[in-house]
Amino acid sequence: MHIEYDDNNVPDISSLVAKNYDNVNPDEVAPVKRIGVLTSGGDAPGMNATIRAVVRAGINSGLEVYGVTRGYHGLWKGEISPIGMRDVSDTLQRGGTFLMTARSKTFEEPAGTVKAAKMMEVYGLDALVVSGGDGSFKGARALARLGVPVIGIPGTIDNDIGCTEYTIGYDTSMNTAMEAIDKLRDTASSHERCSVIEVMGRRAGYIALNVGIATGAEVILIPEVPFDFDKDVLRVILDGRNKGKRHYIVIVAEGAGDATDIATRIEAATGIESRPTILGHLQRGGSPTLRDRTTASLMGVHAIDCLLNKKYNRIIVEKAGKITDIDIEEGLAIKKTIPEIEITNANRLS
Ligand code: F6P
Repeated sequence: MHIEYDDNNVPDISSLVAKNYDNVNPDEVAPVKRIGVLTSGGDAPGMNATIRAVVRAGINSGLEVYGVTRGYHGLWKGEISPIGMRDVSDTLQRGGTFLMTARSKTFEEPAGTVKAAKMMEVYGLDALVVSGGDGSFKGARALARLGVPVIGIPGTIDNDIGCTEYTIGYDTSMNTAMEAIDKLRDTASSHERCSVIEVMGRRAGYIALNVGIATGAEVILIPEVPFDFDKDVLRVILDGRNKGKRHYIVIVAEGAGDATDIATRIEAATGIESRPTILGHLQRGGSPTLRDRTTASLMGVHAIDCLLNKKYNRIIVEKAGKITDIDIEEGLAIKKTIPEIEITNANRLS
């Protein structure tokens, strides 16, 4: 598909569908020789390991690999240059993303997407590997609908991508939050206080739920489950006090409530001194854990395998503990929900 870019005549690309390569004869598909890689959306520990894997596995398989800086923003602006083996030395263990990342409003406009696809042509890039979350994959799908072969690798601390059981960065961020909350428990215990901790997750409660289980939180509030403040927060704390508890941990996902407001209301209603802590972007940094390094590395290799096998427009996923891939249109249509049993079990532990 070839669409001319013209500022005054922007094509409507919303009805286009990315080509599904599931039942296509590979002999009839052009092989890729030069690929681009970018990181997009919120960064996640393990993104550097992902880039490194794409670069190393790509070059070792005879591909040329180009790095795109600042995500899709850099793509439409042409911030693109070759990356070699040595450029990714000493990156595996580093947090953040050395290619940097951005959220690009211009790219999201049809004209910006077309411009980015054009830029791929200008640099002779045959395919693009995108590390990011749901929004980044929607960007990749928009490019795929213009005929650009794409591969998505899930990288977000939120673990909220429907088609995969795991997203790179999730384990590291949970461990970071867990370590911080253990420290907060020490001081909450010394002062017989209630510590209200806000963790990341605007739309998803996976971090809050699992970190809550790992730190023995009395109360876990997540955006997926509406809560009654009197019954689900105050009652639980007061019951705990009646049973002899002297300090309390309340974990709230950012999408479920505001730690400062909750702490104020707990103190006002119970008289228990309460302190809010917002962990914020602390959870997005740091050296990736073994889980994130290995998943990023193996997903990066799998992305290259897809490209070599002319299996384009895929999202690399973890399914039943194995790394595999799914068509991007199908993958993006899958929604993730927290199983009821996980919430029930977390409550049974408080
Ligand atoms: O990357 C996901 C995430 O960390 C969410 O948990 C959070 O709501 C959001 O990004 C924060 O985004 P920003 O870095 O733009 O503040």
